Amino acid sequence: MRKILVTGGCGYIGSHTIIDLLDNGFEVVSIDNFMRSLPSALDNINKVTGKNLVNYNVDLCDKAAIEEVFALEENISGVIHFAALKSVPESVAQPLLYYHNNLESLVNLLDICEQRNVRQFVFSSSCSIYGNAKELPVTELTPFGEAESPYARTKQISEKIIGDLSRISAGKFVVLRYFNPVGAHESGLIGENPKDGMVFNVFPRITGVAIGKYDHLDIFGEDYDTRDGTCIRDYIHVMDIAHAHTLALQYVSANADAPNYDIFNLGTGIGVSVMEIVNAFERVSGRKLRYEMKPRRAGDVESIYANNEKATNILGWHTTRDLDTMISTAWAWEQVLARQK
Ligand SMILES: NC(=O)c1ccc[n+]([C@@H]2O[C@H](COP(=O)([O-])OP(=O)(O)OC[C@H]3O[C@@H](n4cnc5c(N)ncnc54)[C@H](O)[C@@H]3O)[C@@H](O)[C@H]2O)c1
Repeated sequence: MRKILVTGGCGYIGSHTIIDLLDNGFEVVSIDNFMRSLPSALDNINKVTGKNLVNYNVDLCDKAAIEEVFALEENISGVIHFAALKSVPESVAQPLLYYHNNLESLVNLLDICEQRNVRQFVFSSSCSIYGNAKELPVTELTPFGEAESPYARTKQISEKIIGDLSRISAGKFVVLRYFNPVGAHESGLIGENPKDGMVFNVFPRITGVAIGKYDHLDIFGEDYDTRDGTCIRDYIHVMDIAHAHTLALQYVSANADAPNYDIFNLGTGIGVSVMEIVNAFERVSGRKLRYEMKPRRAGDVESIYANNEKATNILGWHTTRDLDTMISTAWAWEQVLARQK
């Protein structure tokens, strides 16, 4: 059984991916210092999978501490590196926090993987690297745009760091560019549960308004050049994103001639506006949402959606859950959280 180190394994996408990896026969250990997640994610992963996941509460900026994990956990054959700070507005307000956390953790991990001959490395990137792309949908060949936030710039720099290393390394490096992951695991046991209400994305804000956690939803910008004036994004179910990581590891394992450095877009290919999400949520949940129009927010791009053909053709990846499923699973999860209070 192959052992994979998942960083950020107690966060939103990491926890869902661990479930998919375990379901597909991988052994998993996690590193997460809970700076943006809760230890309850571990219990929930264990409930869903019937396994006993080991998580090391280690800051990835502390290289000596990561080295200890590798010394304890022999035979790690691959790393999926999710751990990062991810809020666009927070990164605008605190850029150095983002450069420090997101880049130092990456360099530390890459260095240790090189030293220890860990030959498979999957990195969580983001569609934010495209900036305000001139042509849509974006493909993996679309050039980097002007980064609209320090967060986006950390992803651009990270990709460049990994690309540079791949030229002299014997490892296989896969960059997965997520579009907008939403929804929750179908069990209702796991979903997005950020620490201390650090909720910046539109989906948890919407379900939070519907459950009464927030008074209303702020919609930032109604004057964009889109069909209804609100921003357009490519929302994708988190379990579809999760499975792509399993496929990426299987692909590099099965194909010795796979490129040392490869990039895949993970989106559905369908652009949906914020107002369309609000309307779809009201239809699926049967709840009315209070919302207020606010000025545009620094760091947001107008419109972005993916061309996902490369992931389909090379990884054999397909999205399997539609927008209604994204909404219904996210809403079910919000109600589970409310019952736990
Ligand atoms: N969720 C999205 O909308 C989205 C979109 C595109 C890309 N991404 C990227 O995907 C990855 C995972 O995102 P997520 O939504 O699961 O975020 P998340 O905040 O839920 O999870 C990240 C986890 O990493 C941990 N972490 C952060 N810094 C750490 C450090 N220095 N040491 C140890 N642990 C640390 C946090 O505690 C958290 O549990 C991130 O790299 C993010 O930038 C996310």
